[in-house]
Amino acid sequence: MTDASRYPAVHYLKERAQKRIPHFAWEMLDSGTGIEDAVSRNEAEVRKVQITPRMLPTKGDPEVKTTLFGMEYDAPFGVAPIGVSGLVWPKSEIYLARAAKQMKIPYSLSVVGAETPETVGPEVGDYGWYQYYPSGHPVAKEDLLKRGREAGFKVLVVTLDVPMTSTRERQLRAGMRMPPKKGLETFWHAAKCPAWSIETLTHRVPRLVTLEKYNDGETEYREFVSSILHSRPSWDDVARFRDYWNGPVVVKGVMSPEDAEIAVQFGFDGIVVSNHGARQVDAVPATISVLPEIAKAVGGKTTIIMDSGLRSGLDIVRARALGADFCLLGRPFLYALGALGEQGGVHAMKLLRDDYCNNMIQLGVKSVDELRKLTIRA
Ligand SMILES: Cc1cc2nc3c(=O)[nH]c(=O)nc-3n(C[C@H](O)[C@H](O)[C@H](O)COP(=O)(O)O)c2cc1C
Repeated sequence: MTDASRYPAVHYLKERAQKRIPHFAWEMLDSGTGIEDAVSRNEAEVRKVQITPRMLPTKGDPEVKTTLFGMEYDAPFGVAPIGVSGLVWPKSEIYLARAAKQMKIPYSLSVVGAETPETVGPEVGDYGWYQYYPSGHPVAKEDLLKRGREAGFKVLVVTLDVPMTSTRERQLRAGMRMPPKKGLETFWHAAKCPAWSIETLTHRVPRLVTLEKYNDGETEYREFVSSILHSRPSWDDVARFRDYWNGPVVVKGVMSPEDAEIAVQFGFDGIVVSNHGARQVDAVPATISVLPEIAKAVGGKTTIIMDSGLRSGLDIVRARALGADFCLLGRPFLYALGALGEQGGVHAMKLLRDDYCNNMIQLGVKSVDELRKLTIRA
């Protein structure tokens, strides 16, 4: 087993993962859209946030445990939903669900995951969040929600920022398609990554398994997937999904105070301030840049969760300093699996948690309230 201690930060995990994940899958994970300015902007703007520490501070350890929707989590972050993450690293939905349960943090299963809610539900226990695209499909619409609920997922995450598939140029150039293309080039790239290939062959080639039961077999595959995922609903339509869910519902993809206020008016339990990891529109601002104005508009009225561009425990401190109650990270957990296999999930979660804790101590604060009183330059 690889010595995980040699990978003490996400960028080391990323470096190793790129060598162990086949090119087509790496391009799917790592890419954004357009010329990918927004991908670098997300990370760069987070790193610009400066916080001045205070000396001789409050005694005692910082508060790392966080209560959200009545549930206590052991750290203020969780795993963001990643579609077909099983292609990036085989069985990643199962590995990350188990890791999240062990570390007592949320794991979000994408409805376009390579594992079903029925498989992942028992692995993740009480720590499962279920991500759903507002569906207009007459059967799948309700059935998908019912399946998530019955599999034991606690929080419903309705993603609003994918009205249609965006153009992912890097992904297209790498020949990445769903279902995966079986060509010489694909086999060649897979052959260069033996750990990935062996795990894929002993498990299975990833598919959008959750959706399969709704396929009538007559519609072209992309059209079928699109019919389930892209319905362009109204806020009223999205609010109606709550009728099928017995628990907290959050909307993901909020980037403006105006939309945040609408989400509050509709009574959603939380919002995820997110630009989908810069995968939909290359002109979007970094999420950290819009966070303060959203927090000013709706802070205290709803739970504010933030993602896109967070790469360390310190970045989570920065996001919380600017108004996030909780954070999600997407790519970093897949980098961790790519670098270290199954042990990568827990390793990444521990290093993010410890880095968060250490930086709160260095800044001389114990709680988020104290953190927000420091001088912050954003
Ligand atoms: C490969 C990939 C697939 C994704 N699939 C989904 C998805 O199925 N549903 C969703 O709501 N968000 C999806 N996202 C967005 C993530 O949930 C999250 O918003 C984003 O990854 C956060 O940015 P980060 O990767 O910089 O942490 C995906 C992101 C990536 C990189």
